[in-house]
Amino acid sequence: METGMDDLRQKYLGLISGAADEASLENLRVQAVGKKGEISLKMRGLGKMSPEERKEAGPALNALKDEINSALAAKKSALADAALDARLQSEWLDVSLPGRRYRQGTIHPISQVTEEVSAIFADMGFAVAEGPQIDSDWYNFDALNIPGHHPARAEMDTFYMHRAEGDERAPNVLRTHTSPVQIRSMEAHGAPIRIIAPGRVYRADYDQTHTPMFHQVEGLAIDKGISMANLKWVLEEFVKAYFEVDAVDLRFRASHFPFTEPSAEVDIRCSWEGGTLKVGEGDDWLEILGSGMVHPKVLQNSGVDPAEWQGFAFGMGIDRIAMLKYGIPDLRAFFDSDLRWLRHYGFAALDQPNLHGGLSR
Ligand code: DAH
Repeated sequence: METGMDDLRQKYLGLISGAADEASLENLRVQAVGKKGEISLKMRGLGKMSPEERKEAGPALNALKDEINSALAAKKSALADAALDARLQSEWLDVSLPGRRYRQGTIHPISQVTEEVSAIFADMGFAVAEGPQIDSDWYNFDALNIPGHHPARAEMDTFYMHRAEGDERAPNVLRTHTSPVQIRSMEAHGAPIRIIAPGRVYRADYDQTHTPMFHQVEGLAIDKGISMANLKWVLEEFVKAYFEVDAVDLRFRASHFPFTEPSAEVDIRCSWEGGTLKVGEGDDWLEILGSGMVHPKVLQNSGVDPAEWQGFAFGMGIDRIAMLKYGIPDLRAFFDSDLRWLRHYGFAALDQPNLHGGLSR
C-alpha cells in the first residue's frame, strides 16, 4: 500500500528528530527530498493525476517538502551547536593555571617598590589609602586650592575626559597626582589621620624621563601639634630604610605648591662616582619629592577644622625612586612589557619586601 502523506510526515519528522549526527541527517535528506527520495517521487506522480486531484495534492506535497526541509535545517543547526558545546567542554583550558613549559613571570619593579614603600610607612603607623584614577576637577584641583585660572592646571598637562553631548558639567580628569586622595581620605575619616596613597597618575607628556602614565605615593599626617620637624624625621627615616643606608643628608628647599604652606622640595645627598648612584655621600643633590604643611583651605575643603588640626603632606615619584635604587636608566622601558627587561629588572614572586627580612635582597 502506498504510504499516505501524513504517514510520510510522521515518519520523517520522527527520524529527523532522532538523528544522531550530521551524516545520518544527510542520509535522511536524500531518502526524503533527494532526487529519488520518497517525497520527490510522489511529486513526480502529480503528472499522472487528474487536474482536481493535482490541485489538492500539489500544494500539500509542497508544504510537506518545506516542512521536512526546515526540520532538517533546524536539526542540523542543533547538532552543530551540540558539537560546538562538546568541543568547548573537551578543549576547556584553565588559563589561570601556572605554565609548565615556560619560565615564571616576575614582579614588576614598580609593584616591588610600592610594596617596599608601603612596608616602611606601615611600620611608622601609616595606613594605605586609595582613590579613583578618574576624578572630578574638584578633587584633582579646586579642593587642593588650585583654582581654575591657576597656572598649575596648565602645567600639569591634564587629560580631560569626554562628556556626553549636552552634559554641561565640568569634565572629569585622569588624576594628575595622588593629592586628591588626601581630600577623599580626610572626608571619609576626618582627623587625626595618617595615610600614604600610592597609585597611577596621568599627564600628557612623553620623553626619556616622562611617560603619560606614571606612579606617585602621597603621604598625609594630620594631628594636633604636627610641625615641619615631624615631616623631616619621617622623610629621613623613610629614605634611610628605602635606600638601606645608615645615614642620609636631606636638603629642604623652599618651594611653592598651592596645597601646602610653607612648601618644600626635598633633595638627597648622593654621588654618581663611577656611574653608579650612592645615597648619603658625595656632592650631588637629587630631588625626590614635594612636601609641606597642609594648607588650611585644603583642610577646610575636606571638612577638617584648621583651627584645631594641622599636619604635613608629601608627594613622591615611585618610578623615579625605583630607577634610582635599582639603576634603571630609561623610564619608558618600565611600560614596554618587554620580557627580557622584565626578567632582568623584575623580582621573584616570593621576594616579599619587609623590614625584618630586608627590603631588596
Ligand atoms: N602633587 C604634587 C605633584 O604632583 C606633589 C606634592 C607636592 C604633593 C607637595 C604633596 C605636597 O602632598 O605637599 O607635583
